[in-house]
Amino acid sequence: MFSKKTVRDIDVEDKIVLVRTDYNVPLVPVEAGELENEPIIINPTSESKQQIASDLRIHASLPTIKYLLEHKAAKIILMSHLGRPNGQRDKSLSLYVAAEKLAELLPGVTVNFVDDVSGPEVEMAIEDLPDGGILLLENLRFSPEEEANSEEFAREIVDSTHAELFVQDGFAVVHRAHTSTEAITHILPSVAGLLLEKEVKTLTEITKNPAHPFIVLIGGAKVADKQPLIDKFSSVADTIYVGGKIAADGYKSNNPKIIVAEDFDEDSTGVKLDIGPVSTTKLVELLQNAKTVLWNGVLGKVEDAAYATASTIVAKVIGENPNITSVICGGDTSGFVENLCADDPELKFSLVSTGGGAALELLSGQALPGVDGLEDL
Ligand code: 3PG
Repeated sequence: MFSKKTVRDIDVEDKIVLVRTDYNVPLVPVEAGELENEPIIINPTSESKQQIASDLRIHASLPTIKYLLEHKAAKIILMSHLGRPNGQRDKSLSLYVAAEKLAELLPGVTVNFVDDVSGPEVEMAIEDLPDGGILLLENLRFSPEEEANSEEFAREIVDSTHAELFVQDGFAVVHRAHTSTEAITHILPSVAGLLLEKEVKTLTEITKNPAHPFIVLIGGAKVADKQPLIDKFSSVADTIYVGGKIAADGYKSNNPKIIVAEDFDEDSTGVKLDIGPVSTTKLVELLQNAKTVLWNGVLGKVEDAAYATASTIVAKVIGENPNITSVICGGDTSGFVENLCADDPELKFSLVSTGGGAALELLSGQALPGVDGLEDL
C-alpha cells in the first residue's frame, strides 16, 4: 500500500537530517500581556504576536522527530511554510511560534529557531546546534523561490544546512510541487516520515479496501471541492451523506446512494446553519451499522457552539464505536474533532488527517508530487 522508503529503511545515525513538516497551523492574535512567561528560544528579534489555535500538525510531527532522536541523527533541521505570504517577509507569519510549541512538547531537547532558510545565519545556527538538537528554519514562503520549485534554492538550503538526507513528513503539503517538496528530492536521498506513511497508507486503504457498510460523510461549503470526492466514492461507498452548507445551499443528486440532509437549524433571519434534528437522527441510525466512515467537511457552522450540535453528535457516535474504522479529513473537520478529543479522551478515530487539499487530492486519485519523488522500496 505504501511503496516508498521511510526513515525505517535507512541509517540515520550521525546524519544531519532535513525534515519537511507542515506547520501551516491556524493562528489567533495574542492578547496584550499574555506572552509574559513565554520561553525564549533563540531569536528574540522575532516578535510574534500570534498564537497557535490548533497544534494538531505539530503533535503529528512528533513520531518522526522522536524516531530520528532515538536513532541518533546528528542534527534535525525542520522546514515548513506558514500561510501564503507570497514571497514576502511577514512577521505575523513567522514560524517562531511553532518552535516555541515544539520546545514545550519536547522537554530536554534543544529546539532552536533561525530567522532564515539559507545563508550565513543558518550556517551559524547549524554550527551552534548541539548534537541531538533541532533547528527550525523560518517560513519557506518568505522566499519566492519556494513556490517556484527551484533546484537552485533547494541546493542553497542543503549547502547552508549541510543536510545529508531528506525526510518528507509534511503530508498536508505533498500535493504542491514546490522546492521543499519536489526539487529537494533531486538533491538529497529522500524518504518518507512516519506521519506521511500513516496518512497515505490509511487514506489509500479506505479507497481500495474498506470494510462495509462504508459511509462517506460530506459537509463543508464548496461543492467544487467536494464533487470529485463524491464522484470517486460513488462506486466504493454504500452511502454518501451530504450535510453542511452544501446541503443547505440545495445540493441535489439522482444517485440513489446519495442522501442529502432534509431539515436545518436556522438563525433568526432564516439562514440555514446546521443540519436539523430529523436529518441528524437518520444519520446517526445510518452510522450505527457502519464498519467504515470517511468524514470530510463539518455539518454546520461549528465555530458557533449553537450550530455545532449535529457535528458533535456525529463525532461521538463514530468516535465511541470501536468497530468503526474512521478517517476524518479536511482542516475544519480535523480541527473540530481534535478539539472534541482533547475534551473527551474516550473518543478514538483511526486517523484524524492533517491534510486538507492533500487528503482530498489523494482520495480523488490525483498524483502527489511530494510523494512521487521519494525513493521506491
Ligand atoms: C494546507 O494547509 O492545506 C497546506 O499547508 C497547504 O497550504 P497551501 O494551500 O497554502 O499550499
